[in-house]
Amino acid sequence: FNPSSNEQYRPDYHFTPAKGWMNDPNGMFYLDGEYHLFFQYFPDSTIWGPMHWGHAISTDLVNWEELPIALYPDSLGYIFSGSAVVDSDNTSGLGTAENPPIVAIFTYHDMAGEKSGAADFQSQGIAFSLDKGRSWTKYEGNPVLPNQGVRDFRDPKVSQIQLSDGSKSWVMTLAAQDRVQFYKSPDFKNWSLLGEFGQGIGAHGGVWECPDLISLTSPAGEQKWVLISSINPGGPQKGSATQYFIGDFKDGIFTPDDTMIRWLDYGPDNYAGVTWANVPKEQNRTLFIGWMSNWLYSQVVPTKTWRSAMTLSRELSLFDVDGTLLVKSAPVKELETLRKEPIEVNELSNLPAQAVEILAELDGSDSFSLTISNELGELISITKESGLVSIDRSKAGKSNFQEDFAAMHSAPMSWKAEEIRIFLDASSIELFVNGGELVMTSLVFPNSPWKKIEFHQGINEGVIYQLN
Ligand code: FRU
Repeated sequence: FNPSSNEQYRPDYHFTPAKGWMNDPNGMFYLDGEYHLFFQYFPDSTIWGPMHWGHAISTDLVNWEELPIALYPDSLGYIFSGSAVVDSDNTSGLGTAENPPIVAIFTYHDMAGEKSGAADFQSQGIAFSLDKGRSWTKYEGNPVLPNQGVRDFRDPKVSQIQLSDGSKSWVMTLAAQDRVQFYKSPDFKNWSLLGEFGQGIGAHGGVWECPDLISLTSPAGEQKWVLISSINPGGPQKGSATQYFIGDFKDGIFTPDDTMIRWLDYGPDNYAGVTWANVPKEQNRTLFIGWMSNWLYSQVVPTKTWRSAMTLSRELSLFDVDGTLLVKSAPVKELETLRKEPIEVNELSNLPAQAVEILAELDGSDSFSLTISNELGELISITKESGLVSIDRSKAGKSNFQEDFAAMHSAPMSWKAEEIRIFLDASSIELFVNGGELVMTSLVFPNSPWKKIEFHQGINEGVIYQLN
Protein backbone atom coordinates (compact mmCIF):
# COMPACT_ATOMS: atom_id res chain seq x y z
CA PHE A 1 0.00 0.00 0.00
CA ASN A 2 2.99 2.22 0.00
CA PRO A 3 4.34 2.34 -3.54
CA SER A 4 6.99 4.97 -2.83
CA SER A 5 8.62 3.51 0.26
CA ASN A 6 12.08 3.89 -1.24
CA GLU A 7 11.77 7.62 -0.52
CA GLN A 8 13.64 8.81 2.53
CA TYR A 9 11.33 9.39 5.54
CA ARG A 10 8.24 7.94 3.81
CA PRO A 11 6.43 5.97 6.54
CA ASP A 12 5.70 2.27 5.95
CA TYR A 13 2.48 2.03 7.95
CA HIS A 14 1.30 5.58 8.62
CA PHE A 15 -0.94 7.29 6.10
CA THR A 16 0.75 9.87 3.85
CA PRO A 17 -0.60 11.34 0.61
CA ALA A 18 1.36 10.23 -2.46
CA LYS A 19 2.31 13.84 -3.09
CA GLY A 20 1.58 17.34 -1.83
CA TRP A 21 0.71 18.95 1.46
CA MET A 22 -1.55 17.43 4.13
CA ASN A 23 -2.73 18.68 7.51
CA ASP A 24 -5.77 17.84 9.67
CA PRO A 25 -7.75 14.61 9.38
CA ASN A 26 -11.33 15.45 8.36
CA GLY A 27 -14.73 13.86 7.95
CA MET A 28 -13.94 10.37 9.18
CA PHE A 29 -16.86 7.96 9.05
CA TYR A 30 -17.39 4.23 8.67
CA LEU A 31 -19.72 2.69 6.12
CA ASP A 32 -20.11 -0.85 4.76
CA GLY A 33 -16.74 -2.16 5.88
CA GLU A 34 -14.78 0.96 4.92
CA TYR A 35 -13.19 3.49 7.22
CA HIS A 36 -13.05 6.82 5.41
CA LEU A 37 -10.39 9.38 6.09
CA PHE A 38 -10.44 12.82 4.49
CA PHE A 39 -7.74 15.38 5.08
CA GLN A 40 -6.76 19.00 4.60
CA TYR A 41 -4.91 18.82 1.32
CA PHE A 42 -3.05 21.00 -1.17
CA PRO A 43 -2.00 18.79 -4.08
CA ASP A 44 0.12 21.41 -5.88
CA SER A 45 2.74 22.11 -3.24
CA THR A 46 4.38 20.68 -0.14
CA ILE A 47 3.42 23.76 1.85
CA TRP A 48 -0.07 24.84 2.96
CA GLY A 49 -2.22 26.50 0.28
CA PRO A 50 -5.78 26.45 -1.13
CA MET A 51 -7.39 23.71 0.92
CA HIS A 52 -9.12 20.69 -0.58
CA TRP A 53 -10.35 17.53 1.12
CA GLY A 54 -8.13 14.64 0.09
CA HIS A 55 -9.58 11.17 0.62
CA ALA A 56 -8.40 7.69 1.62
CA ILE A 57 -10.14 4.48 2.67
CA SER A 58 -9.16 1.45 4.69
CA THR A 59 -10.85 -1.75 5.76
CA ASP A 60 -8.61 -2.14 8.82
CA LEU A 61 -7.47 1.36 9.90
CA VAL A 62 -3.91 0.32 9.04
CA ASN A 63 -3.62 -0.09 5.26
CA TRP A 64 -4.84 2.99 3.40
CA GLU A 65 -5.73 3.50 -0.22
CA GLU A 66 -5.73 7.08 -1.48
CA LEU A 67 -8.75 8.02 -3.60
CA PRO A 68 -9.35 11.07 -5.81
CA ILE A 69 -9.80 14.45 -4.14
CA ALA A 70 -13.28 14.71 -2.59
CA LEU A 71 -13.82 18.47 -2.28
CA TYR A 72 -12.26 21.36 -4.20
CA PRO A 73 -12.20 25.03 -3.20
CA ASP A 74 -14.91 27.13 -4.89
CA SER A 75 -16.12 30.73 -5.06
CA LEU A 76 -17.09 30.68 -1.37
CA GLY A 77 -13.56 29.78 -0.32
CA TYR A 78 -11.08 27.10 0.63
CA ILE A 79 -12.46 23.93 2.19
CA PHE A 80 -11.21 23.90 5.77
CA SER A 81 -11.63 21.16 8.39
CA GLY A 82 -14.90 19.51 9.27
CA SER A 83 -16.71 16.23 9.68
CA ALA A 84 -19.02 13.80 7.89
CA VAL A 85 -21.81 11.51 9.03
CA VAL A 86 -24.17 9.02 7.46
CA ASP A 87 -27.61 10.65 7.50
CA SER A 88 -29.44 7.31 7.73
CA ASP A 89 -32.91 8.84 8.08
CA ASN A 90 -32.29 11.29 5.22
CA THR A 91 -33.09 14.18 7.59
CA SER A 92 -31.28 16.49 5.17
CA GLY A 93 -33.47 15.46 2.24
CA LEU A 94 -30.28 15.33 0.18
CA GLY A 95 -30.73 11.62 -0.56
CA THR A 96 -33.67 9.23 -0.43
CA ALA A 97 -34.96 6.79 2.19
CA GLU A 98 -33.57 3.93 0.07
CA ASN A 99 -30.23 5.62 -0.49
CA PRO A 100 -29.53 7.92 2.45
CA PRO A 101 -26.81 10.52 1.95
CA ILE A 102 -23.50 10.95 3.68
CA VAL A 103 -23.35 14.59 4.70
CA ALA A 104 -20.04 16.42 5.08
CA ILE A 105 -19.90 19.73 6.90
CA PHE A 106 -16.83 21.91 6.60
CA THR A 107 -15.62 25.47 6.98
CA TYR A 108 -15.48 27.79 4.01
CA HIS A 109 -12.47 30.07 4.34
CA ASP A 110 -12.82 33.10 2.10
CA MET A 111 -9.29 34.38 1.37
CA ALA A 112 -10.48 37.63 -0.19
CA GLY A 113 -12.60 38.28 2.88
CA GLU A 114 -9.63 37.66 5.14
CA LYS A 115 -7.44 40.05 3.14
CA SER A 116 -10.08 42.78 3.26
CA GLY A 117 -9.78 42.79 7.05
CA ALA A 118 -13.38 41.75 7.70
CA ALA A 119 -14.04 39.30 10.53
CA ASP A 120 -16.69 37.28 8.75
CA PHE A 121 -14.61 35.21 6.32
CA GLN A 122 -15.29 31.78 7.83
CA SER A 123 -18.68 30.08 7.52
CA GLN A 124 -19.97 26.49 7.41
CA GLY A 125 -21.07 24.66 4.27
CA ILE A 126 -22.25 21.14 3.48
CA ALA A 127 -21.82 18.61 0.69
CA PHE A 128 -23.30 15.16 0.22
CA SER A 129 -22.46 11.82 -1.33
CA LEU A 130 -24.84 9.15 -2.57
CA ASP A 131 -22.14 6.70 -3.66
CA LYS A 132 -20.29 5.66 -0.51
CA GLY A 133 -18.15 8.77 -0.44
CA ARG A 134 -16.78 8.38 -3.97
CA SER A 135 -18.23 11.64 -5.28
CA TRP A 136 -19.55 14.73 -3.54
CA THR A 137 -22.01 17.46 -4.46
CA LYS A 138 -21.99 20.77 -2.66
CA TYR A 139 -25.36 21.98 -1.36
CA GLU A 140 -26.65 24.89 -3.43
CA GLY A 141 -27.83 26.83 -0.35
CA ASN A 142 -24.37 27.14 1.21
CA PRO A 143 -23.34 28.50 3.63
CA VAL A 144 -25.66 26.75 6.10
CA LEU A 145 -24.20 28.61 9.06
CA PRO A 146 -22.99 32.09 8.15
CA ASN A 147 -20.34 33.77 10.22
CA GLN A 148 -21.62 35.16 13.54
CA GLY A 149 -19.06 37.96 13.79
CA VAL A 150 -16.17 35.83 15.07
CA ARG A 151 -12.85 35.86 13.25
CA ASP A 152 -12.01 32.21 13.96
CA PHE A 153 -15.23 30.31 13.36
CA ARG A 154 -14.46 26.84 12.14
CA ASP A 155 -14.01 23.09 12.14
CA PRO A 156 -17.59 21.79 12.63
CA LYS A 157 -17.84 18.29 14.12
CA VAL A 158 -21.35 16.87 13.96
CA SER A 159 -22.91 13.91 15.73
CA GLN A 160 -26.42 12.79 16.57
CA ILE A 161 -27.26 13.39 20.22
CA GLN A 162 -30.43 12.87 22.23
CA LEU A 163 -31.74 16.09 23.78
CA SER A 164 -33.72 16.08 27.02
CA ASP A 165 -37.02 16.67 25.21
CA GLY A 166 -36.48 13.21 23.76
CA SER A 167 -35.66 14.40 20.25
CA LYS A 168 -32.56 13.30 18.45
CA SER A 169 -30.73 16.22 16.97
CA TRP A 170 -27.63 16.92 14.96
CA VAL A 171 -25.28 18.66 17.33
CA MET A 172 -22.37 20.64 15.94
CA THR A 173 -19.31 21.38 18.03
CA LEU A 174 -17.56 24.40 16.53
CA ALA A 175 -14.37 26.28 17.43
CA ALA A 176 -15.00 30.00 17.95
CA GLN A 177 -11.65 31.57 18.76
CA ASP A 178 -11.27 31.06 22.54
CA ARG A 179 -14.19 28.69 23.07
CA VAL A 180 -16.34 25.97 21.63
CA GLN A 181 -19.91 26.59 20.55
CA PHE A 182 -22.67 23.98 20.30
CA TYR A 183 -25.36 24.32 17.64
CA LYS A 184 -28.29 22.04 16.84
CA SER A 185 -30.09 21.27 13.63
CA PRO A 186 -32.85 18.92 12.48
CA ASP A 187 -31.55 18.83 8.90
CA PHE A 188 -27.96 20.19 8.55
CA LYS A 189 -29.36 23.30 6.87
CA ASN A 190 -30.76 25.28 9.79
CA TRP A 191 -28.62 25.72 12.87
CA SER A 192 -29.36 27.34 16.21
CA LEU A 193 -26.96 28.08 19.03
CA LEU A 194 -27.37 25.94 22.15
CA GLY A 195 -24.46 27.00 24.32
CA GLU A 196 -20.75 27.55 24.55
CA PHE A 197 -17.85 26.47 26.67
CA GLY A 198 -14.25 27.36 27.33
CA GLN A 199 -13.89 31.04 28.04
CA GLY A 200 -11.44 31.28 30.93
CA ILE A 201 -11.20 27.48 31.28
CA GLY A 202 -8.41 25.26 30.00
CA ALA A 203 -5.31 26.23 28.05
CA HIS A 204 -5.54 29.46 26.04
CA GLY A 205 -2.08 30.04 24.63
CA GLY A 206 -3.58 30.13 21.12
CA VAL A 207 -6.86 29.79 19.24
CA TRP A 208 -9.06 26.74 19.74
CA GLU A 209 -9.46 24.53 16.69
CA CYS A 210 -10.91 21.17 15.64
CA PRO A 211 -13.15 20.36 18.61
CA ASP A 212 -14.94 17.05 19.13
CA LEU A 213 -17.54 15.94 21.67
CA ILE A 214 -17.68 12.25 22.49
CA SER A 215 -19.35 10.07 25.05
CA LEU A 216 -17.26 7.50 26.95
CA THR A 217 -18.06 5.23 29.88
CA SER A 218 -15.96 5.57 33.03
CA PRO A 219 -14.45 2.49 34.70
CA ALA A 220 -17.26 2.85 37.28
CA GLY A 221 -19.83 2.55 34.49
CA GLU A 222 -20.85 6.19 34.41
CA GLN A 223 -21.52 7.94 31.09
CA LYS A 224 -19.16 10.89 30.71
CA TRP A 225 -18.66 13.44 27.95
CA VAL A 226 -15.24 14.30 26.68
CA LEU A 227 -14.70 17.58 24.86
CA ILE A 228 -11.58 17.62 22.73
CA SER A 229 -10.10 20.92 21.62
CA SER A 230 -6.89 21.45 19.73
CA ILE A 231 -5.01 24.66 20.39
CA ASN A 232 -2.34 26.48 18.42
CA PRO A 233 0.02 27.69 19.80
CA GLY A 234 0.08 26.97 23.54
CA GLY A 235 0.73 23.21 23.65
CA PRO A 236 2.82 21.67 26.43
CA GLN A 237 5.80 21.14 24.09
CA LYS A 238 5.43 24.48 22.24
CA GLY A 239 3.31 24.98 19.15
CA SER A 240 0.14 23.01 18.61
CA ALA A 241 -1.42 20.29 20.79
CA THR A 242 -4.76 18.79 21.77
CA GLN A 243 -6.38 19.31 25.15
CA TYR A 244 -9.54 17.72 26.51
CA PHE A 245 -12.10 18.19 29.25
CA ILE A 246 -14.16 15.53 30.99
CA GLY A 247 -17.62 16.33 32.27
CA ASP A 248 -21.30 16.22 31.46
CA PHE A 249 -23.22 17.46 28.45
CA LYS A 250 -26.87 18.31 28.43
CA ASP A 251 -28.77 20.17 25.72
CA GLY A 252 -25.73 22.12 24.60
CA ILE A 253 -24.31 22.90 28.03
CA PHE A 254 -20.99 21.25 28.80
CA THR A 255 -20.08 21.18 32.51
CA PRO A 256 -16.52 20.04 33.27
CA ASP A 257 -15.83 17.94 36.37
CA ASP A 258 -12.85 20.15 37.24
CA THR A 259 -10.57 22.80 35.75
CA MET A 260 -7.52 20.59 35.30
CA ILE A 261 -5.66 20.95 31.98
CA ARG A 262 -5.29 17.56 30.29
CA TRP A 263 -3.48 16.74 27.04
CA LEU A 264 -4.42 13.84 24.83
CA ASP A 265 -0.83 13.25 23.74
CA TYR A 266 2.17 14.78 25.49
CA GLY A 267 4.47 14.56 22.48
CA PRO A 268 4.93 17.50 20.13
CA ASP A 269 3.40 15.86 17.04
CA ASN A 270 -0.25 14.94 17.37
CA TYR A 271 -2.60 17.74 16.36
CA ALA A 272 -6.15 18.41 15.20
CA GLY A 273 -7.25 14.82 15.79
CA VAL A 274 -10.92 13.86 16.00
CA THR A 275 -12.98 10.65 16.11
CA TRP A 276 -14.73 8.47 13.55
CA ALA A 277 -18.48 8.71 13.06
CA ASN A 278 -20.80 5.73 12.52
CA VAL A 279 -18.49 3.07 13.95
CA PRO A 280 -20.86 0.09 14.32
CA LYS A 281 -22.23 -0.26 17.87
CA GLU A 282 -21.04 -3.85 18.14
CA GLN A 283 -17.42 -2.66 17.81
CA ASN A 284 -18.04 -0.70 21.00
CA ARG A 285 -15.06 1.59 20.50
CA THR A 286 -14.21 5.23 19.88
CA LEU A 287 -11.63 5.64 17.15
CA PHE A 288 -9.30 8.60 16.78
CA ILE A 289 -6.58 9.74 14.40
CA GLY A 290 -4.45 12.90 14.51
CA TRP A 291 -2.18 14.85 12.21
CA MET A 292 1.36 13.79 13.09
CA SER A 293 2.96 17.21 13.00
CA ASN A 294 3.09 20.61 14.65
CA TRP A 295 2.44 24.02 13.10
CA LEU A 296 5.82 25.14 14.47
CA TYR A 297 7.70 23.30 11.73
CA SER A 298 5.22 21.27 9.67
CA GLN A 299 6.01 23.25 6.50
CA VAL A 300 9.79 22.91 6.73
CA VAL A 301 10.36 19.28 7.76
CA PRO A 302 12.80 17.50 5.40
CA THR A 303 10.46 15.40 3.28
CA LYS A 304 10.56 16.01 -0.45
CA THR A 305 7.49 15.05 -2.46
CA TRP A 306 4.92 15.19 0.32
CA ARG A 307 4.54 16.71 3.77
CA SER A 308 2.96 15.15 6.84
CA ALA A 309 1.61 11.80 7.94
CA MET A 310 -1.27 10.85 10.19
CA THR A 311 -0.70 9.24 13.61
CA LEU A 312 -1.61 5.62 14.12
CA SER A 313 -5.33 5.07 14.57
CA ARG A 314 -6.10 4.91 18.27
CA GLU A 315 -8.91 3.73 20.49
CA LEU A 316 -9.96 6.18 23.21
CA SER A 317 -11.27 5.14 26.62
CA LEU A 318 -11.41 6.47 30.19
CA PHE A 319 -9.26 5.30 33.08
CA ASP A 320 -8.96 6.42 36.65
CA VAL A 321 -5.89 7.60 38.57
CA ASP A 322 -6.69 8.06 42.28
CA GLY A 323 -10.19 9.29 41.54
CA THR A 324 -9.25 11.49 38.55
CA LEU A 325 -10.48 10.43 35.14
CA LEU A 326 -8.12 10.65 32.18
CA VAL A 327 -8.32 9.56 28.55
CA LYS A 328 -6.25 6.63 27.40
CA SER A 329 -5.23 6.32 23.72
CA ALA A 330 -4.42 2.74 22.73
CA PRO A 331 -3.12 1.73 19.30
CA VAL A 332 -5.95 -0.05 17.44
CA LYS A 333 -5.81 -3.83 17.68
CA GLU A 334 -5.66 -4.18 13.89
CA LEU A 335 -2.03 -3.03 14.06
CA GLU A 336 -1.15 -6.50 15.34
CA THR A 337 -1.83 -7.88 11.86
CA LEU A 338 1.36 -6.17 10.67
CA ARG A 339 3.57 -8.13 13.06
CA LYS A 340 6.15 -10.59 11.76
CA GLU A 341 7.85 -13.20 13.96
CA PRO A 342 8.65 -11.91 17.46
CA ILE A 343 12.33 -11.28 18.20
CA GLU A 344 13.45 -11.46 21.83
CA VAL A 345 15.47 -8.47 23.03
CA ASN A 346 17.78 -8.37 25.99
CA GLU A 347 20.08 -5.49 26.77
CA LEU A 348 21.06 -4.78 23.21
CA SER A 349 19.46 -5.72 19.94
CA ASN A 350 19.62 -4.90 16.30
CA LEU A 351 16.47 -3.59 14.72
CA PRO A 352 15.39 -5.70 11.73
CA ALA A 353 13.78 -2.84 9.78
CA GLN A 354 12.69 0.79 9.98
CA ALA A 355 9.11 -0.27 10.72
CA VAL A 356 9.08 -1.96 14.11
CA GLU A 357 7.07 -2.33 17.25
CA ILE A 358 8.83 -2.80 20.58
CA LEU A 359 7.07 -4.17 23.64
CA ALA A 360 8.67 -4.35 27.07
CA GLU A 361 7.66 -4.74 30.69
CA LEU A 362 9.38 -2.75 33.38
CA ASP A 363 11.24 -4.67 36.06
CA GLY A 364 8.98 -3.24 38.76
CA SER A 365 10.91 -0.07 39.43
CA ASP A 366 8.75 2.72 37.88
CA SER A 367 11.73 4.23 36.08
CA PHE A 368 13.51 3.20 32.95
CA SER A 369 15.93 4.31 30.31
CA LEU A 370 16.46 3.09 26.77
CA THR A 371 18.01 4.38 23.59
CA ILE A 372 17.42 3.79 19.92
CA SER A 373 20.42 4.63 17.77
CA ASN A 374 21.92 4.37 14.29
CA GLU A 375 25.35 3.89 12.73
CA LEU A 376 26.05 7.62 12.82
CA GLY A 377 25.63 7.75 16.58
CA GLU A 378 22.34 9.63 16.35
CA LEU A 379 19.93 8.57 19.05
CA ILE A 380 16.50 8.89 20.59
CA SER A 381 16.50 8.51 24.32
CA ILE A 382 13.35 7.47 26.17
CA THR A 383 13.13 7.56 29.95
CA LYS A 384 10.95 7.71 32.99
CA GLU A 385 12.61 9.39 35.94
CA SER A 386 11.19 11.20 38.96
CA GLY A 387 7.64 10.99 37.67
CA LEU A 388 8.48 12.38 34.21
CA VAL A 389 8.33 10.43 30.96
CA SER A 390 10.63 11.94 28.34
CA ILE A 391 11.59 11.54 24.73
CA ASP A 392 14.80 13.30 23.82
CA ARG A 393 15.19 13.87 20.09
CA SER A 394 17.82 16.57 20.37
CA LYS A 395 20.49 14.27 18.88
CA ALA A 396 18.19 12.22 16.68
CA GLY A 397 19.20 13.49 13.25
CA LYS A 398 18.15 16.48 11.15
CA SER A 399 16.84 19.40 13.13
CA ASN A 400 18.33 22.55 11.63
CA PHE A 401 15.13 23.33 9.70
CA GLN A 402 13.60 24.91 12.81
CA GLU A 403 15.06 26.01 16.13
CA ASP A 404 12.57 24.27 18.43
CA PHE A 405 12.79 20.86 16.82
CA ALA A 406 15.89 19.53 18.61
CA ALA A 407 14.48 19.16 22.10
CA MET A 408 13.68 16.87 24.96
CA HIS A 409 9.96 16.62 25.68
CA SER A 410 8.67 15.54 29.08
CA ALA A 411 5.29 14.62 30.50
CA PRO A 412 4.16 14.14 34.08
CA MET A 413 3.13 10.59 35.01
CA SER A 414 2.45 10.41 38.74
CA TRP A 415 1.28 6.80 38.63
CA LYS A 416 3.36 3.71 38.04
CA ALA A 417 4.71 2.80 34.60
CA GLU A 418 4.39 -0.94 34.06
CA GLU A 419 4.92 -1.55 30.40
CA ILE A 420 5.85 0.35 27.28
CA ARG A 421 5.04 -0.07 23.65
CA ILE A 422 6.92 1.81 20.96
CA PHE A 423 6.05 2.15 17.28
CA LEU A 424 8.93 3.26 15.08
CA ASP A 425 8.48 4.22 11.46
CA ALA A 426 10.73 5.98 8.94
CA SER A 427 10.31 9.40 10.54
CA SER A 428 8.32 8.96 13.75
CA ILE A 429 8.16 7.38 17.15
CA GLU A 430 4.97 6.78 19.15
CA LEU A 431 5.34 5.79 22.79
CA PHE A 432 2.41 4.20 24.65
CA VAL A 433 3.00 3.69 28.37
CA ASN A 434 0.63 1.23 30.13
CA GLY A 435 -1.36 0.61 26.96
CA GLY A 436 -1.81 4.32 26.24
CA GLU A 437 -2.34 5.87 29.69
CA LEU A 438 0.45 8.20 28.68
CA VAL A 439 1.23 8.82 25.01
CA MET A 440 3.98 10.76 23.28
CA THR A 441 4.18 11.15 19.52
CA SER A 442 7.32 12.59 18.00
CA LEU A 443 8.72 13.13 14.53
CA VAL A 444 12.40 12.22 14.03
CA PHE A 445 14.55 12.54 10.91
CA PRO A 446 17.64 10.35 11.33
CA ASN A 447 20.37 10.63 8.69
CA SER A 448 20.58 6.86 8.50
CA PRO A 449 18.02 4.25 9.57
CA TRP A 450 17.67 3.25 13.24
CA LYS A 451 19.74 0.12 13.87
CA LYS A 452 19.95 -0.63 17.59
CA ILE A 453 17.89 -0.60 20.74
CA GLU A 454 19.53 -0.67 24.17
CA PHE A 455 17.85 -1.10 27.53
CA HIS A 456 19.94 0.78 30.12
CA GLN A 457 17.78 0.65 33.18
CA GLY A 458 14.41 -0.60 34.45
CA ILE A 459 13.81 -3.05 31.59
CA ASN A 460 15.42 -6.48 31.34
CA GLU A 461 13.82 -7.87 28.23
CA GLY A 462 11.28 -7.21 25.56
CA VAL A 463 10.01 -8.27 22.17
CA ILE A 464 10.48 -6.62 18.78
CA TYR A 465 8.20 -7.16 15.83
CA GLN A 466 9.10 -6.13 12.35
CA LEU A 467 5.93 -4.62 10.89
CA ASN A 468 4.62 -5.57 7.45
C1 FRU B 1 -5.92 23.24 12.22
C2 FRU B 1 -6.46 24.21 11.18
C3 FRU B 1 -7.98 24.28 11.25
C4 FRU B 1 -8.34 24.72 9.87
C5 FRU B 1 -7.33 24.00 9.02
C6 FRU B 1 -6.91 24.75 7.80
O1 FRU B 1 -4.68 22.71 11.91
O2 FRU B 1 -5.88 25.49 11.36
O3 FRU B 1 -8.47 25.11 12.28
O4 FRU B 1 -9.65 24.36 9.53
O5 FRU B 1 -6.20 23.79 9.85
O6 FRU B 1 -6.14 23.97 6.95
